Amino acid sequence: MSSSTTSEPGVSSSSLQAAFCFRCIECGDTSEKAGQDFRCAHCGDLLEITYPRWGNTELRADELKSTWKQRRLSTIPADLSGVWRFRDLLPPLANEDNTITLREGNTPLYQLPRCSRVTGVPHLFAKHQGMNPTGSFKDTGMTVAASFARQAEFRWVACASTGNTSASMAAYAARGGLRSLVLVPDGKISWSKLSQALDYGAVTCQLRTDFDGCLRLLQELVRRAPVYQLNSINPFRLEGQKTLAIELMEQLDWQPPDHIIVPGGNLGNSSAIGKALLEMLKLGLISRLPKLSVIQAEGANALVRTLRDGAGKRLVPVQAETRATAIRIGNPASWKKAVHVLSETGGACEDVSEVEIAQAKAEIGAEGIGCEPASAVTLAGLKKLVRQGFVKPQDSVVLVLTGSLLKDPDFTMEFHRGEMFRGSDKESDSAALDALRRPPIVLDATLDAILRTLAQFEKAKS
Ligand code: F0G
Repeated sequence: MSSSTTSEPGVSSSSLQAAFCFRCIECGDTSEKAGQDFRCAHCGDLLEITYPRWGNTELRADELKSTWKQRRLSTIPADLSGVWRFRDLLPPLANEDNTITLREGNTPLYQLPRCSRVTGVPHLFAKHQGMNPTGSFKDTGMTVAASFARQAEFRWVACASTGNTSASMAAYAARGGLRSLVLVPDGKISWSKLSQALDYGAVTCQLRTDFDGCLRLLQELVRRAPVYQLNSINPFRLEGQKTLAIELMEQLDWQPPDHIIVPGGNLGNSSAIGKALLEMLKLGLISRLPKLSVIQAEGANALVRTLRDGAGKRLVPVQAETRATAIRIGNPASWKKAVHVLSETGGACEDVSEVEIAQAKAEIGAEGIGCEPASAVTLAGLKKLVRQGFVKPQDSVVLVLTGSLLKDPDFTMEFHRGEMFRGSDKESDSAALDALRRPPIVLDATLDAILRTLAQFEKAKS
């Protein structure tokens, strides 16, 4: 591996006279440069990107809205990207030729009529980030962070991942002529995600540890080798992921919903969405804040425990276990950022069971939309928040679906074949799911057999 050609490691904003800078979320220290570990040089905590020039009212809300609308008519690559179209609120690249884009973002906002009936919430929508180029929300952050990696002239990029980050990173690295190194927990990511990383040409290492172990090693690696880290510790990732919220508000004609509900794993995405909401409020793009709520799997509920047992002041890590492997994370890196945005927006944090996740996933599938298991925690969480009275029936709610149904076909097949909870202590709870199951039917290849099946289903429906 040859070393990076930058004179010093790290990423600087100085060439643009501090159009943005890095600020430590703990001690507040600001700097125009970040080290390869993207941690504060003084206290070691995470960094966030801030924009000192925004204070000078350089940005006017009405002008921004009309510029973003205008760009929809343009055919230049930056405007075709649903991320870079909002570049006025992103860190600018010194040289735009470094932009690596796959036309990410531009994701649909769907109404969910069936799920509305299930939850009793008529104004229910899904922002489907699984419709991104590699099938997950990671692409919106990756286009920004990978472009900055290329600008800093790194040859290698790397990430630890539960699957989606690695698929996305591998794709953007390939598009940008960078080499990529993937660290994933052996046996704990879906084949679809793993196969994406392989096809996009990543060097893929399956480590005999969990995600948290992979991330620990990656952080050591970037201190030792000229490798640019693309986990969500990298604040450029979160700047790109902010555009989910900006695009959502534009789709809602700048009328914020009452609630946005997002799955929580390493907690980068909730932090990014919250940051965007706070920035939009400050810039006058929206006039009030939606409540941003985070939902976790019961077996990977570090944020729930951190708020409950640690008063939001100290991380309470867990030994993570869930079939929603994307969020099988026990030691979330961005927990402080997430605690901050939950408290600023007045959102809730809840966990849901494996049976609730499977049920919600099938219900979202039955809408003709579908999502991966981790995304389905949002609907399961909404049901809980309605029961608790936190979400009122008249409220408008947006669920952030983070990944495509095609990301985890094993989960879907096991569910529909009725194998998922068979023989486990959850078997009796899961009986209620039978009505949602649609197992494949093996038949003799005759018209009669097909007609009989059709009749059976028609009868069952009436
Ligand atoms: N949903 C999906 C589909 C994910 O892949 C992830 C995280 C999350 C939700 C949680 O987002 O970590 O920002 O809180 N996946 C990471 C990965 C960790 O490596 O692909 P988060």
